[in-house]
Amino acid sequence: MTVHIGAKPGEIAETVLMPGDPYRAKWAAENFLEDAVLVNEVRGMLGFTGTYKGNRVSIQGSGMGMPSLSIYANELIRDYGAKTLIRIGSCGGMQEKVKIRDVIVAMTATTLSTPSRGIFKEMNFAPCADWSLLRAAVAAAEGKGVDTHVGGIYSSDVFYDERPDLNEQMTRHGILGVEMEAAELYNLGARHDVRTLAVLTVSDHLQTGEALPSEDREKTFGDMVEIALEAAFA
Ligand code: HPA
Repeated sequence: MTVHIGAKPGEIAETVLMPGDPYRAKWAAENFLEDAVLVNEVRGMLGFTGTYKGNRVSIQGSGMGMPSLSIYANELIRDYGAKTLIRIGSCGGMQEKVKIRDVIVAMTATTLSTPSRGIFKEMNFAPCADWSLLRAAVAAAEGKGVDTHVGGIYSSDVFYDERPDLNEQMTRHGILGVEMEAAELYNLGARHDVRTLAVLTVSDHLQTGEALPSEDREKTFGDMVEIALEAAFA
């Protein structure tokens, strides 16, 4: 047990999928894993462990934003021995070519700040995904015929953004989408020498104002879960 995760030693797999929403963790475990059991419910941040095609895997909610994700990812890596951590979540599209429901596989994550800023200080570290996971996720997405974009994303600290000029600069520099967790996950992957990746579904669009209707979210989310699972065990 750790401060924030109630699982006993050995109850969490080396491969962990991390949705922001704990109820998405439950839904994904019930629909995509075999023999899934609840291993964490501290603070309602549900975590499950089961198998996918015979491979042991956990799905643990991260909460929203980098400080929350950082707590769970640190404990998963340091206390439970997680070796592969894949964020599965939603993002806002930032390019015209990026459409609602498309999948983004995040090669890099640009930020203003992360919980690791105190370490890097004046350095602008470049958080990037694990190449083997990135490659496998893109192959899995293409195999499923899902419209997929691979490139940089923006990990923001705010959902209610008072600096639209920053979004404009991100769009101008080819950033595909905005979310709130991946950069710190990638920082931790680098620091602890574990594999990290973010696979995201475009749930809304900053330029068009479109948003994915709630009834469509499960199907689209399911593609992303399968892409992440296939990538983890490729
Ligand atoms: N901004 C930040 N995070 C998000 C968004 C957004 O528009 N959509 C989904 N996650």
